[in-house]
Amino acid sequence: MKKIAFFGAQSYDREAFDAANNGRYELRYFRTRLAPTSLPLSDGCDAVCAFVNDTLNKEVIAGLKVRGIKLIAMRCAGYNNVDLKAAYDEGITVVRVPAYSPYAVAEHAAALLLTLNRHLHKAAARTRDYNFSLNGLTGFDLHEKTAGIIGAGKIGRIFGDIMKGFGMKVLAFDHFPVEGNGFEYCDMDRIFKEADVISLHCPLTQDNHHLVNAENLAMMKKNAILINTSRGGLIDSDALLNALREGQIGGAGLDVYEEEGEWFYDDHSETIKQNKNLSLLVSMPNVIITSHQAFLTHEALSNIATITLKNLDDFFSGADLKSRAVAYS
Ligand code: NAI
Repeated sequence: MKKIAFFGAQSYDREAFDAANNGRYELRYFRTRLAPTSLPLSDGCDAVCAFVNDTLNKEVIAGLKVRGIKLIAMRCAGYNNVDLKAAYDEGITVVRVPAYSPYAVAEHAAALLLTLNRHLHKAAARTRDYNFSLNGLTGFDLHEKTAGIIGAGKIGRIFGDIMKGFGMKVLAFDHFPVEGNGFEYCDMDRIFKEADVISLHCPLTQDNHHLVNAENLAMMKKNAILINTSRGGLIDSDALLNALREGQIGGAGLDVYEEEGEWFYDDHSETIKQNKNLSLLVSMPNVIITSHQAFLTHEALSNIATITLKNLDDFFSGADLKSRAVAYS
């Protein structure tokens, strides 16, 4: 039986994968992330299964090669954390789950927007304290406002449709515009200048690191809300902090953060050491941070498990690999 070293395993991963596996693979679950120090855990395995914050740089990939690993099965859509060239050079195949529930992510982006705009996080905390005052909880109607989507692929298009449901005009920027979806495609500057809500849905690539920066944050409307459920590196967090401090934008809903790797998915509530920018961001009343959880629905977990195991089946049986990770164009 093929053995799979499963890194960063959480209880919800085990539940979904055990249910879908049907005993066909020996899944060795490790709570620890894949990193140079945890490489020995993959000894004797045929493949590794990794996630968004595992380290898959040149050093780790060389270490996997030495251990006879032939396949890296990413159980996520994005794979910016994988050095694809190193994998190619070492002859290790990389697969991923291109789509498992774009609805899960788009709906989480909408949840961040609604919570921030209507201050639900503050309202819920207040009413628990028997404080029923409404001061400071005023939001704005989404109806007839403008939403801007950067990256109108599977998730971005669903988010756009949700925004249309609110009666919003939808502007979109994408290198590959699609006709007939009711969005108005335009350049990014127009989105920054005109949108009341901007949501990021493009992959993180070498070319778009800090796509949101001081220059375009300064173009945004004073009360505009920025949502990022894509990848943290798309936003320059120093610039975002400045913009929030100076009142240049209305608020930010972040499911991802550029230095999330060390923090997200674990309980650090007893830790003294903290990340400076993250601490400042979580302390701001007009910022909501979630811990890269936009994917976290029952449907998505079940699909991730089924598709990842199918990727393993296809690789080990020599079938055509439909979910091979290829360099971002
Ligand atoms: P997709 O591949 O269907 O769509 C991405 C779109 O972005 C494509 O239309 C592409 O042309 C466009 N694009 C690429 N580079 C761009 C750029 N520089 N500027 C504007 N548009 C650009 O991908 P999908 O499934 O919609 O996922 C989008 C991203 O969402 C993933 O790459 C991943 O980073 C993130 N994601 C986050 C999750 C979470 O739990 N927070 C879960 C799943 C995905």
